[in-house]
Amino acid sequence: MKSKDWLNRQKRDHFVKKAKKKGYLSRAAFKLVEIENKYKVIEKSKYVLEFGASPGGWSQVVLEVNPRIKITALDVLDFKLNHPNVFFHKEDYLNFNYDKLKKNFDLILSDIAPNTTGHQSTDHLRISNMIFDIIKILDKILAKNGVFICKIWKGSEEKELIKTLKSKFNTVSYFKPESSRKDSSEIFIVAINFLI
Ligand SMILES: C[S@@+](CC[C@H](N)C(=O)[O-])C[C@H]1O[C@@H](n2cnc3c(N)ncnc32)[C@H](O)[C@@H]1O
Repeated sequence: MKSKDWLNRQKRDHFVKKAKKKGYLSRAAFKLVEIENKYKVIEKSKYVLEFGASPGGWSQVVLEVNPRIKITALDVLDFKLNHPNVFFHKEDYLNFNYDKLKKNFDLILSDIAPNTTGHQSTDHLRISNMIFDIIKILDKILAKNGVFICKIWKGSEEKELIKTLKSKFNTVSYFKPESSRKDSSEIFIVAINFLI
């Protein structure tokens, strides 16, 4: 999408206006609100790790639901939220040293997304590769019975992704929030009860 079209759409968008009103740092915050309303995973968690956390809208929602939670957040871009419970690392998720973390996260969230090319299958492959990378990291940091929630753009790798997640979690389901644009292939995967 051209940047002028994107700007015009942002101006019209109901959730962009709502985010401003609520003081959320991103429109994406509403997607996590909807995920939490359905799955109630944040309220039960103590330690959360977020992949692709900037500017910080999801972290705001996590803290709103559960003010005592501890968040470890990763992103290559600046994080705009300053809160004592959030430990932000400005780093590429591929370069981060996960060995310094404990295997005690009960919730891992990924809203990570590559820059889009506009070519649907290329974008799908790129985000899928990121999620496959993150799944490999889960073994090191996600506690037994933990939850993993990630965003993908639908496409050919989806079957393999779901198959991989089903081998590691008890329950795997899809969720399309109302606040996710109807014309977007974006969908969230919610994987519950990590088996190892
Ligand atoms: C949709 S935004 C996340 C919005 C966030 N959930 C919020 O509500 O504020 C996707 C994020 O993924 C991040 N990202 C993309 N590639 C990354 C990488 N290699 N390592 C870490 N973060 C990355 C982008 O910088 C971007 O901030």
